[in-house]
Amino acid sequence: MTTYNLALIPGDGIGVDVTEAAMRVMVAAGARFGFDLKSETLPWSCAYYHETGAMMPENGIAYLRGFDAIYLGAVGWPLSVPDAVSLHGLLLPIRKAFNQYANIRPHRLLAGVEGPLRTDGFDILCIRENTEGEYAGAGGRVHHGMQNEVAVETSVFTRAGVERILRFGFEQAQARRKHLTSVTKSNAQKYSMVFWDEVTRELAADYPDVTVNHMHIDAMAAKMVMAPQDLDVVVASNLFGDILTDLGAAIQGGLGFAASANINPDRSAPSMFEPVHGSAPDIAGKNIANPIAAIWSGVMMLEHLGEAAAAEAVLTAVEAVTGQGIGTRPGKNTTEEITTAVMAALEV
Ligand code: IPM
Ligand code: MN
Repeated sequence: MTTYNLALIPGDGIGVDVTEAAMRVMVAAGARFGFDLKSETLPWSCAYYHETGAMMPENGIAYLRGFDAIYLGAVGWPLSVPDAVSLHGLLLPIRKAFNQYANIRPHRLLAGVEGPLRTDGFDILCIRENTEGEYAGAGGRVHHGMQNEVAVETSVFTRAGVERILRFGFEQAQARRKHLTSVTKSNAQKYSMVFWDEVTRELAADYPDVTVNHMHIDAMAAKMVMAPQDLDVVVASNLFGDILTDLGAAIQGGLGFAASANINPDRSAPSMFEPVHGSAPDIAGKNIANPIAAIWSGVMMLEHLGEAAAAEAVLTAVEAVTGQGIGTRPGKNTTEEITTAVMAALEV
């Protein structure tokens, strides 16, 4: 039997609740489809930070490298650790160190889920650059705390980085409805975004079957509300993709349904799977977090591991459950109820 070794980082808040739920479902899928998910739970979190002074041990990245995949619940407990400390101590370094340059986020309405828009029938795959751009971390502050204090944070767009994310987007489009929307702001940002547009045009020649559409981020925000059904694959920079995918989450019914995968496409290091929602301190530990985003992220992990049939079965089970109205609205069902229902649907 194939065995996959997973590093589990439940992290903070509802990350713990939903990781447990997602793992139960994925392990059950393994039992049904003939593979074994072995996991090691790593306590890296804000609680760990309070104990040790760091979000993960010094050799944390090296240690993670040995796993087939990483599953992460949520990171952040702003009540006691500033977000800029917790995220730069755990989530963001993993994405960069392992070259997980493609952050993939699907946006569509699951069966039975009503989004806030009147339209349905949209199926968007957002591909967010995940290692550089506005998140490059190049910058600094001078004259700390003084009247003339200056803060500078420079976006970094490399040809290699832009090319690889666009190629990834083009390939996803080829496998879907052959439509790629590249999102920039090249009417205002005349270096980085004009460069991105140029690279998109250059590469388009290699993918003649894909129709490319260039959009500015502001117009794109409007389009995702007014006509999301016109979109197929969307590719954007790190920050633009971050913002658009919360909008995507909103139109698909909320963050409880927004899944994501941080993919290293050349498989030179493990990829990481995590729901888009954060740690939600207000509802942590109350058994009311919606585990569907986490389970769907698990589906993306199973796909990445090569267990396509199991992945499909889990997603079908999720939609059988939401189709019955279970887990479709915040607070309607407990985490446990939704998870148990998905497990039961998986048996059918
Ligand atoms: C996300 C999150 C993170 C991001 C935060 C927590 C740093 O918002 O995964 O979308 O901006 O990438
Ligand atoms: Mn975000």
